[in-house]
Amino acid sequence: MKELAKKAASKLKQASEMVIVSHIDADGISAAGIASQALDHIGMEHEVKFAKKLDEAYINELIASKPELVWFTDLGSGSTDILQDLDCIISDHHKPVESTGGSKKKPKTLFDFTEDDDMPVSDFLQVNPHFVGLDGSNDISGAGTAYLVARALDPELRRLSHLAIVGAVGDMQDRELGRLQGTNRDILADAEHFGVIEAIEDVNFFGRETRPVWKMLQYASELEINGVTDDYRGSMDFFMELGINLKRGENWRAWVDLKESEKKEIIEALNYYVPAENFMGEVYLLPQEKKGTELHEAKEFATLLNSCGRYDAAVIGLDVCKGDRGEALDLAYGLRKGHRKQLVDSIKIMQSVGISQMEYIQFVHVGDMIRDTIVGTVAGMLFGSGKIDDKKPIFALAEADDGIKISGRGTRQLIEAGLDLSEVMRQAVETFHGAGGGHNIAAGATVAPEQVNDFLELANEIVGRQLA
Ligand code: C5P
Ligand code: C5P
Ligand code: ZN
Repeated sequence: MKELAKKAASKLKQASEMVIVSHIDADGISAAGIASQALDHIGMEHEVKFAKKLDEAYINELIASKPELVWFTDLGSGSTDILQDLDCIISDHHKPVESTGGSKKKPKTLFDFTEDDDMPVSDFLQVNPHFVGLDGSNDISGAGTAYLVARALDPELRRLSHLAIVGAVGDMQDRELGRLQGTNRDILADAEHFGVIEAIEDVNFFGRETRPVWKMLQYASELEINGVTDDYRGSMDFFMELGINLKRGENWRAWVDLKESEKKEIIEALNYYVPAENFMGEVYLLPQEKKGTELHEAKEFATLLNSCGRYDAAVIGLDVCKGDRGEALDLAYGLRKGHRKQLVDSIKIMQSVGISQMEYIQFVHVGDMIRDTIVGTVAGMLFGSGKIDDKKPIFALAEADDGIKISGRGTRQLIEAGLDLSEVMRQAVETFHGAGGGHNIAAGATVAPEQVNDFLELANEIVGRQLA
């Protein structure tokens, strides 16, 4: 990938101006933050655009604006079949389109070029882990691949490595092992070396910086402690029984406000119910940010970015990534509040609509009650809650501007059993002419409303085959 990144960087340098196109989620915004700062650094004029997905309508509009060169980050690899008319480079970790042998052109990668080749205009230079046999869902994020390009532009840009960690954590790449793995660890080494990330062993619950500890524990669904999880009184009692003050003065105490001896006591008490490896792991701090804020820890930082991107305000997240600690950060905090409420409400909505079962899959259609941009996040949150079947992938459907958005989510166990949701979306999209793709564990597509039933039948059949 380093070699791929070098090629990409040398191509970038030849342009006089360019457009960055990135995905709207935390990883995509972090990726754009890296790419944009890298171009600022080399003095390259550029514009940043965000997209929910790449489809022909979007690409045609992009082509009409006649960009000299486009840098796609955290998207692109799943769409090379519609990018022939653009001169572009791609840094992405989504599963690449494969050659269908028909009219579609096989995407070219670095390995199709020799050192002295001029880069042909319509071929694709992709920095993507899939081309070097690595797993795009765990090894590196979209922000990570953009970082490799930035690093190849100028080693000094290693100072941006914290954003690659935020992107990876935003895409949950630390989930499987309780810590980052693969290429992400090399990036982490850069980040620690430059003092932009500090990795510590700690509880890996969400909200260690900004949530009252009792709330953090109440929502830690991975614990499943009877009478504590999902129970605010029980959670408060848990701390009171340990003699730990929940407040200092008027303020609720967050995990970061506790003394080391208090943390130790809590961890020991939790360990009585649940094995420590279930709730301990590596936590990534941003030591240059203010302690006790969303920006001080990668998972909370990523959620702040999602709070922007998933509500049509990715640019605000970008400004925060680029260092705005004034207006953009204030706006992001506002959006964060809204996102928190949307997630809580949406989980309730999804449960009240009810999950329908097919033989190999389960699905839920929430109509216009949940935004198409968060329906996947909400579906993913239901795994492990006991409210859905953990043995089948879930497909959550919601109305979007241009059809029905479908978000698929699976579990690690299902992936090990053969599930590949990106393949399900790919095949479905070929059948129904929609747009879709993603990763084995999480993928999405948009189809026409009248195709929903056929889509579900087909998905059921494909998943059945994958798990056989
Ligand atoms: O578009 P992008 O690659 O950034 O998004 C990856 C998606 O995969 C995210 O929505 C993330 O939450 C999801 N994911 C997941 N479980 C994992 C890894 C990723 O749901 N273990
Ligand atoms: O939108 P959602 O969160 O369900 O997306 C899950 C994964 O599928 C993300 O990595 C996203 O980039 C990808 N996806 C895609 N093409 C689409 C929709 C989603 O590649 N049309
Ligand atoms: Zn990503």
